[in-house]
Amino acid sequence: MCGIVGYIGKDEIKNILVDGLRELEYRGYDSAGIAVLEKDNIQSFKAIGKLKNLEEKTSNYASKGFGLGIGHTRWATHGKPTELNAHPHLGEFSYVVHNGIIENYQELKKELQAEGVTFLSQTDTEVIVHLFEKFYKELNDPFAAFEKTVETLEGAYAVLLITKADPEKIYFAKNGSPMIVGNDAKGDIYFGSSDAAMLGKATEVIYLADGDYGYTSMEGISLYHDRKTKALSKRPLVGDKVSAQKNGFRFFMEKEIYEQSEVLSDTIMGRVLDNEIKFDELDTNFFDGINDIKICACGTSYNSGLACSYLFERQAKIKTSIEIASEFRYKEPLMSKDTLFVVISQSGETADTLEALKMAKAAGLKTMAICNVDNSSIVRLSDYTLLTRAGIEKGVASTKAFATQVMTMWMLSLYMAQHRNTMSQEEIKAEIDAIRHIPTTVMVEDNLHEKIKRLSKRYLHGHGFFFIGRDLFFPLALEGALKLKEISYLHAEGYPAGEMKHGPIALADSELFTIALMPKNIHYDKIKSNVEELSARDATILAISPLEFDLADDFIKTKHAEHPMSEFFEMMVITQILALEISVRLGNDVDMPRNLAKSVTVE
Ligand code: AGP
Repeated sequence: MCGIVGYIGKDEIKNILVDGLRELEYRGYDSAGIAVLEKDNIQSFKAIGKLKNLEEKTSNYASKGFGLGIGHTRWATHGKPTELNAHPHLGEFSYVVHNGIIENYQELKKELQAEGVTFLSQTDTEVIVHLFEKFYKELNDPFAAFEKTVETLEGAYAVLLITKADPEKIYFAKNGSPMIVGNDAKGDIYFGSSDAAMLGKATEVIYLADGDYGYTSMEGISLYHDRKTKALSKRPLVGDKVSAQKNGFRFFMEKEIYEQSEVLSDTIMGRVLDNEIKFDELDTNFFDGINDIKICACGTSYNSGLACSYLFERQAKIKTSIEIASEFRYKEPLMSKDTLFVVISQSGETADTLEALKMAKAAGLKTMAICNVDNSSIVRLSDYTLLTRAGIEKGVASTKAFATQVMTMWMLSLYMAQHRNTMSQEEIKAEIDAIRHIPTTVMVEDNLHEKIKRLSKRYLHGHGFFFIGRDLFFPLALEGALKLKEISYLHAEGYPAGEMKHGPIALADSELFTIALMPKNIHYDKIKSNVEELSARDATILAISPLEFDLADDFIKTKHAEHPMSEFFEMMVITQILALEISVRLGNDVDMPRNLAKSVTVE
């Protein structure tokens, strides 16, 4: 989704802006642009497509001495991905970049047009710069004009504005979309819509809150909220830029699949003791008054939540329901205060999940975030957070985030079971042993990867894929299908295996590829008969199982694990690599698949 960067200082501005945008590339975008202001001269460049197009356009340009600049990667919402619609948007003497959606832009645009303003783009963003210039002409004070502009906007925004009327400042505002401002030891100022853009540059940062606005110059940061000055609460920016690189792998997604062993060790670190699960993040009265759980999330995070809803009911014996956040928002849901509302999100910025969380909070529910990004909007809003500790995930197709979400909630399930006395000490101990083995389970062996790579060439055509599984392996089937369709653009569905005969089996023929998840520890005989039914209709079967299965056209043998979750994690890796290798053979952009964004901050 859209990304924002900004800089004030003496270093070469274009390079700093483009470097920052490159760190945000993984979020997905379809055009990019920058504007640089030196004294009273503004230079702006825009290009559709990848950042390299912008770099080519700016190759003969470099700033000299003190100046400031703003940059943006745009993922089209209002208006096509064209150069005119790309940010920064200009007025007569100012430029703006914006993430989010201005909900009242149409009425504002009409008013401005009636006053003679000409609009160049189809975006909602352009109203911001024209409003600012109109108010500046009325008030003759850039800050007052900016403040009034912000007060006029409705909707979600993170905004940076530069103007020849005040050429040594960047004006900023944040409401509903993330924005961070920071500085380095020299006092140079940096902005980013995510701290990934600022790693290695800013040393301390402020995570702006909704309703914050202000301006920065070399004299420092002036922060306001509700027309009053606000104290700066700076935090050190820690993080390692190198860890965000590919480390020799072909794609970030591949690197992230291979990293799962390491990050899962981080996820369990300090939380899995010899005989118990411990979460320092949860206080002892955490469960007071809680009778059931509602999980809410989107996409992959929904799939991990669905898997763990089986665990919560089975292990902790707590009634659990799950909803897709975009549906939950508008169904006029009934909520009661004895429900723990759990939102799951890799990015912590997904608009639908964030709004669902706000609804639950407004209804007085206790809320918990399972999230990968500390200080994200979802984390800041939730009463409790369990961080998944996956590290920066750059591949748009989520892999290690899913793995760590499932692990975090498996531990949460056992934590609740301890508290509710629904499992014996021996049973908890057996789960702990299984958890400790998972980082080994997910290590990718060379011969497994090689086998999947070879098999993948047989699955590049056909009229679709069914990933099927039962119980915990149904959500894993959903996730396997989502991964494949995201990066291969082939049609894939996840189904509960027992549901095939209620309709989908009508599609079965030799060009229908069935990926059958056949663990030995959960309903093996049941899934076996479901796969036999498909095989009888000539569907092409790729079976993934520790038990030989004669009717399979292709077979990936898994280990004879004694715990269903070990089988779950092993099969998860296989489906991830299968999607990766099919996508590679089809020549697709694995890390930045078409039409998708990493962080979906609009509904
Ligand atoms: C995963 O591969 C997806 N690209 C997508 O479904 C994602 O999981 C979804 O948009 C939710 O994102 P979040 O976890 O950051 O909230």
